Amino acid sequence: MPKKIRVHCPATIANLVCGFDVLGLCLEAPYDIMEVSLLDEPVIRISSADGYPLPSDPAQNTAGAPLIEMMKEIEENIGFEVVIHKHIKPGSGLGSSAASAAGAVVAANKLLGERFSNEDLLRFAMFGEKVASGVKHADNVAPCIYGGITLIRSIHPLDVVALSAPELYVTVVHPQIEVKTSDARQILRKEVLLKDAIKQWGNIAGLVAGFLKNDYALIGRSLEDVIIEPVRSILIPGFDEVKSLCKEAGALGGGISGSGPSLFMLNQEESIAHKNEEIMQEVFKKLGIEYKTYVTKVNKNGVVEV
Ligand code: HSE
Repeated sequence: MPKKIRVHCPATIANLVCGFDVLGLCLEAPYDIMEVSLLDEPVIRISSADGYPLPSDPAQNTAGAPLIEMMKEIEENIGFEVVIHKHIKPGSGLGSSAASAAGAVVAANKLLGERFSNEDLLRFAMFGEKVASGVKHADNVAPCIYGGITLIRSIHPLDVVALSAPELYVTVVHPQIEVKTSDARQILRKEVLLKDAIKQWGNIAGLVAGFLKNDYALIGRSLEDVIIEPVRSILIPGFDEVKSLCKEAGALGGGISGSGPSLFMLNQEESIAHKNEEIMQEVFKKLGIEYKTYVTKVNKNGVVEV
């Protein structure tokens, strides 16, 4: 068995507009790189390759907490050393904490001869999300581990469904402002009106059906969020403009990536995805806000050894 491996840990888009906490998609770019080594003493050491400040206590670290949970289920005198090359900025809405959590457990599992199932890995990885945002949610870690698009029907007990989908081009803009997931959850209303709930579950069902039936028009119609987006979009300058201009230019639809501030658009055509990128760039230039953009695709593999 190898003593050290290197993995790519991809960014993910949680919620997919209408599916708060239940839908997520894995991206080909951006991604973190992680080197994980097996140690012969029960310790966890985590460091950043780029001098990025990381919590030194593994229990407070999004990669460390999942490894602690994994080690509780291994009765052996082993530990892990993790070196993270962070390319997905924390607070970007692109699943930075999930990439660390999922990358750590997938890599550790490979070093241990694949003794845990993906469902076990997901169970461990959610402890990283708890460290990052105060709550366990699986809509970033599940697509990061399984790849593709995942539906998290339930986390207690875990019930994850990998969804097939037609080819999609994804445009992402990450305005360089930070939105903490914990803050973006705090501002949400605790109750929803029945009429809004009906719209929302119609859209979630429509989106899942659209993916499974390769029906682009149905995907587009279902990318609507009447519960979370009206509250969170207030935190994101340029939101309405980006969304309406991209849809006018032919995007199927899109919205806030995870808890923001990144925004994303799903597209049937690559050329439209590039047009969306130009629109996003123009909007944020005009607003005087630094940004990064990506035109990418759905990553079918999740965390992989490289
Ligand atoms: N579903 C979570 C949220 C994802 O929107 O708060 C955070 O990345």
